[in-house]
Amino acid sequence: MRFDVFSLFPSVLQAYLEISILQRAIERELLEVHLHDIRAWTTDRHHITDEPPYGGGGGMVMKVEPVFAAVEDVLGAPPQSPVILLTPQGRTFTQKVAYELAEYPRLALVCGRYEGFDERIRQHLATDEISIGDYVLTGGELPALILIDAVTRLIPGALGDPTGASDDSFASGLLEYPQYTRPAEFRGWTVPEVLLSGNHAEIARWRREQALRRTWERRPDLLNTADLTDRDRKLLDRWEAERAAASRPEPDPSPSASE
Ligand code: ADE
Repeated sequence: MRFDVFSLFPSVLQAYLEISILQRAIERELLEVHLHDIRAWTTDRHHITDEPPYGGGGGMVMKVEPVFAAVEDVLGAPPQSPVILLTPQGRTFTQKVAYELAEYPRLALVCGRYEGFDERIRQHLATDEISIGDYVLTGGELPALILIDAVTRLIPGALGDPTGASDDSFASGLLEYPQYTRPAEFRGWTVPEVLLSGNHAEIARWRREQALRRTWERRPDLLNTADLTDRDRKLLDRWEAERAAASRPEPDPSPSASE
C-alpha cells in the first residue's frame, strides 16, 4: 500500500516511520510512504503557502495553488486515487474507516495548517475529509500518522503475529480483554489462574467474558453493533440485573421514630 503525504512540515512524520511495525512494513515492501513538501510547489519568490482570508477575520488560510500543483503533479490530474484532507471538519476516523481505507492500493493525505484550507481544495480536489476526533490540533501531520499507523496494522503480514489485528479492541466490536505477561506475581498481585491453566477453551471463554464486561462498563455504546452470542446476551442480562439490584435503595428496617 502506498501513501503520499502532502505537508508543510513533512520531516515531522519521518521519525515515526523509522521504528517498529511501520519500519518493518516498509522494509518488507508492504508499505510505501512518500512525503511531499507543499512549499516545493510554490512559484513565488517567498514560497508563500498561506494568506489572510478574504472577508477579513483572524488567522491564515492555506492557499489553493500549491496544494493543487503538488497533488496533481504526484498523482496526476485528476488524481486517480482518493485524496483525503485531514481536518476537524471531516468524518470521524474509526477502526471501521481504517478497514475501509486499507482496501485501497494508494491514498493521498493532505495535512492542513493554519486556520484551514481554501474551500476550493475541499470542493475540487479532496475526495474525502477525515477528523481523528472532536478537538483541534495545530496541523494534520499527527492525524496523518495516526491514519497511516492504524491502516498499516491491517495490511496482511504487517504485524508479526499470525492472528494479525483480529484480536484488537474494536476488531470484534468489543474492547480487548486484559493481558498479562511474566512474572505471575508482582507485589502480591497475581495473574488470573485460568491464564496459567493451559486450558485453551477455558481461556477463550474467560477472555470473551472479560472483553464483554469491559465493553459493558466502559463503552456500552459499542454493544449496539457488536456481534453477540447467546451466552454474551445472558451475561449482559445478569450484569444488568445485578447493577439494578445494587442501585435499588435499601428498605428501611426500623419503624419511623415519629410514630
Ligand atoms: N487538523 C487539526 N485538527 C484535526 C483533527 N482533529 N483531525 C484531523 N485533522 C486535524
